[in-house]
Amino acid sequence: MIVFDRVTFGYNAKPILNELSFQVDPGEKIAILGGSGEGKTTILKLIVGLIRPDSGRILIEGEDITHKTEEELNDVRRKFSIVFQAGALFDSLTVKENVAFCLREYTKMTEDEIDAKVRELLRLVDLEPAIHLMPAELSGGMHRRVAIARSLAVHKPIMMLYDEATAGLDPVNSDNICNLIVELSSFGMGHMMVTHKVVDALKVADRFLFLEGGTVVFDGGADELLASSHPHIRTFVDELRYQPKVSGKR
Ligand SMILES: Nc1ncnc2c1ncn2[C@@H]1O[C@H](COP(=O)(O)OP(=O)(O)O)[C@@H](O)[C@H]1O
Ligand SMILES: [Mg+2]
Repeated sequence: MIVFDRVTFGYNAKPILNELSFQVDPGEKIAILGGSGEGKTTILKLIVGLIRPDSGRILIEGEDITHKTEEELNDVRRKFSIVFQAGALFDSLTVKENVAFCLREYTKMTEDEIDAKVRELLRLVDLEPAIHLMPAELSGGMHRRVAIARSLAVHKPIMMLYDEATAGLDPVNSDNICNLIVELSSFGMGHMMVTHKVVDALKVADRFLFLEGGTVVFDGGADELLASSHPHIRTFVDELRYQPKVSGKR
């Protein structure tokens, strides 16, 4: 469903991705691991056509999006819900208005319909009681959950894309977000989470790609990941030793 075919990309003269190839099927639960600056966010931007490859092709549901016009790319963007790293909410708007924002912008729903939809989405992320709060009144984890609810507001995506969904959260909040990601996927859509936290990747994914030097140096399941002898993967995995209660599986 998502195919990267020898994708090369750089910002100005700085090469980031080098003939990167991988393929993701519908409904997959996948994590892309890699260090800071390896190009994880760049991959998500390429998938939704915010940037274009310098060479190689990207196919979404069999369609080559590499040379699509901006207008055609809007159709591609509608296929995905993307929760960016910052998960930024509008600080001056309530939780309700944040989630309602795209509904007001892109649909002709009535006030009652918007209210019902916002409440439905907030129930999904277990936050309906927070509907009238301001972002400043939310914990980090609540903030992230509102951002996820907002990303689901307008359409039914074929896949959720999460950029470091648990970055900066304490272990309890990280765990809550991971559970939510898994729960949302039980409706049939898969997800891709890019992260450098192996412990969270193991909770949400059953397939793992490890990105290094602009290319995929590992593609496999949890057991293989944990047993990998690749030195940098080992460093990432060794982090788990310092985490309490890790089973290696969800
Ligand atoms: N808009 C940009 N212009 C120039 N360089 C960028 C831009 N965005 C990201 N980079 C650089 O590209 C590299 C990869 O970025 P990114 O995909 O955000 O990495 P990751 O998400 O894995 O940390 C980093 O070195 C980053 O500094
Ligand atoms: Mg990033």
